[in-house]
Amino acid sequence: MITLVPLDSIEPAIVESLLDRAFGPERFQRTAYTIRGDGTPIAALSFAAIEDGALVGSIQCWPIALIQDEGETPLVMLGPVAVEPTHQRDGIGRRLMTQALDAATAHGLDGALMLIGDPEYYGRFFGFTADRTAHWNAPGPVERHRLLARGDAVPDTTGILGARVPDTIPVTASA
Ligand SMILES: CC(C)(COP(=O)(O)OP(=O)(O)OC[C@H]1O[C@@H](n2cnc3c(N)ncnc32)[C@H](O)[C@@H]1OP(=O)(O)O)[C@@H](O)C(=O)NCCC(=O)NCCS
Repeated sequence: MITLVPLDSIEPAIVESLLDRAFGPERFQRTAYTIRGDGTPIAALSFAAIEDGALVGSIQCWPIALIQDEGETPLVMLGPVAVEPTHQRDGIGRRLMTQALDAATAHGLDGALMLIGDPEYYGRFFGFTADRTAHWNAPGPVERHRLLARGDAVPDTTGILGARVPDTIPVTASA
């Protein structure tokens, strides 16, 4: 049986090891890592999937922003979502995403969500689209059709994605 628990209850090295297996060791080169910077994930929106005491999946969410000339619009970046390769396509990814999205709603943080991922997955199951991200820039290469967002407050404006300045982060601990 799969149980979802807060990610910060898991030893970080075990999570990092799963991410290596799901994405490969080059994952740190990904633009999503540059966007989020050196911050910490939003604890209340980040979860682990456990089976028989072992970590089989994880999701992290990050406080980022679309930075414009006149200020910044806060966004929550979902991901990485990682499922142990031997457990993929068993519904664990969908459960982790649903848990993070429900937590975002519960904390009032679901107004402007974004991620970089396959629209065939995140659009099909969770309603993320590239409809309002066409004018966004990123601090690294990104395929436009994989720059996805969801929520009523998603800004359809020009700006560059980056880490949020610390004093504007609303939720940093489990609630
Ligand atoms: C992508 C990932 C998170 C999906 O989680 P999962 O638990 O394996 O998948 P789920 O069981 O939730 O969903 C399975 C369904 O999604 C589809 N699916 C899975 N990955 C997909 C992808 N990348 N693109 C399109 N469809 C995908 C499957 O075909 C399946 O569809 P079906 O029900 O019609 O057969 C997981 O496979 C994974 O960790 N992959 C490696 C890392 C990665 O690419 N992460 C996503 C980028 S942030």
